[in-house]
Amino acid sequence: MKNTFRNLICLLALIMAFSCSNSSDDSPTSGPTELPDAIRASFEHAISPSDPFVLLLTNTTSYYLPYTGMWDYGNGTTAIADGTSVKEVRYDAAGRYTISLTVSSDGITNTMSKDIIVDENGICPNAVCGDLNTSSLKDAATTFSVGTITRSPYVNAGGKHTEILVSEFNNLTSEYEMKMNVMYPSEGNYDFSAGDAIVDFAQANGMNVHGHALIWHNATPSWVENFSGTDAEFETMVEDYITTTLEHYKGKVRSWDVVNEAFEDGSGHPLRNSVFRQKMGDDYIKKCFQFARNADPDVLLFYNDYNMASSPTKREAMFNLVDSLGDLVDGVGAQMHISYNGPSAANIQAVADGTVSRNLKLHFAELDIRANPEEDTSVSSLSTDRANAQKEKYKEVVQIYNAIPLDNKFALTVWGVRDNESWLLDFWGVPDWPLMFDEDYNKKPAYAGFLEGLQ
Ligand code: G3I
Repeated sequence: MKNTFRNLICLLALIMAFSCSNSSDDSPTSGPTELPDAIRASFEHAISPSDPFVLLLTNTTSYYLPYTGMWDYGNGTTAIADGTSVKEVRYDAAGRYTISLTVSSDGITNTMSKDIIVDENGICPNAVCGDLNTSSLKDAATTFSVGTITRSPYVNAGGKHTEILVSEFNNLTSEYEMKMNVMYPSEGNYDFSAGDAIVDFAQANGMNVHGHALIWHNATPSWVENFSGTDAEFETMVEDYITTTLEHYKGKVRSWDVVNEAFEDGSGHPLRNSVFRQKMGDDYIKKCFQFARNADPDVLLFYNDYNMASSPTKREAMFNLVDSLGDLVDGVGAQMHISYNGPSAANIQAVADGTVSRNLKLHFAELDIRANPEEDTSVSSLSTDRANAQKEKYKEVVQIYNAIPLDNKFALTVWGVRDNESWLLDFWGVPDWPLMFDEDYNKKPAYAGFLEGLQ
């Protein structure tokens, strides 16, 4: 009985999909691909390219049954154009508006809401208004460098990406092209061309470069992984590689991550059994720092790792390592791949305190803040509430960094410019918005959080 009724509903839905007429409440025009549990309201909003006071609202709700949709544009505002798919709504008065779309079908009702802010200039992109549009991160951070990452194709292409690099940042890290697998692709054959493009761009725009990373188990060329010579020849090869690379970038690169992510995450955090450890011994890290110091005594040398805040035991292992390096190490790079809801401020503060107590420089080296650590695959956009929670986390991280003594300050680097370029999207495979700019290069509340963290 139940299946006959269900098949009847599906047949009706298909007939409806091809016969629905337009009305002030929203109805679908095309059929479903799969049967979701319950209707979920969904809409996109964008500022009209022709009028900063006009918002374009598009109902993106998808459901296999007919449904009714009702808009509330906030504070009694009415639509100036009531199209079937796109609503145009004018917001003349400054203020905060909550826009809602409520959809109902089969007795189920669901609402999606988003807040917008309007000021004297119009609707603020991502609720980021006023002077924030005229500010810049690098100018606001007067006691440390503000960094981000780039790639040689990006700097060669120019455009909005490089515009943002130059206007907002004064420290650059190569996302992946100044690592061994790119710079030393085969024995005796160095390729610095991609790194050079980034360094030349930085020099041309008065920016510092942070070299990342000389030795990393995840960016080791296969010919090194399968090195055929003796251990002594291997060590000589590593010394030659570090010396050649630092001499090539002498005076152009201010600092280097000599070794990245040397510890296992498991209990006791033993050293990873990388080919460097196998061939050079447990003290391979110290040897690499010594090679670097010998090659360029003026460049700042960092040890870089992740989970420094979220794992107190890994943090302890890292600090024991830098203690063992003595004056061969100048700073600690805490990557800071975190989430809006953790690690706690106390744990982040512990990274700062441990570094300051050792008179070392601190680099928050790869900051990004997941807005969807719950890995909710049904979310299609960054909600206002979550954007504000992320903003508060950016503010918290910057406040902690900005409060350390001047001598320990170095740089705070964000691991990407636009949300859609973040490595996190491929790595976790779920929707997320971890950075300070959206895909249209609009500043997000996260950007405001960074600036508020400096106040
Ligand atoms: O650009 C090429 C593309 O032309 C080619 O078609 C494609 C397929 O081979 O590769 C692309 O390059 C990839 C690059 O990311 C850009 O997507 C490289 O193979 C890939 O290795 C590189 O991954 C980088 C990864 O480190 C390994 O170097 C990520 O961008 C980068 O975000 C990630 O960064 C690491 C930090 O160095 C250390 N801490 C964790 C962080 C995230 O994993």
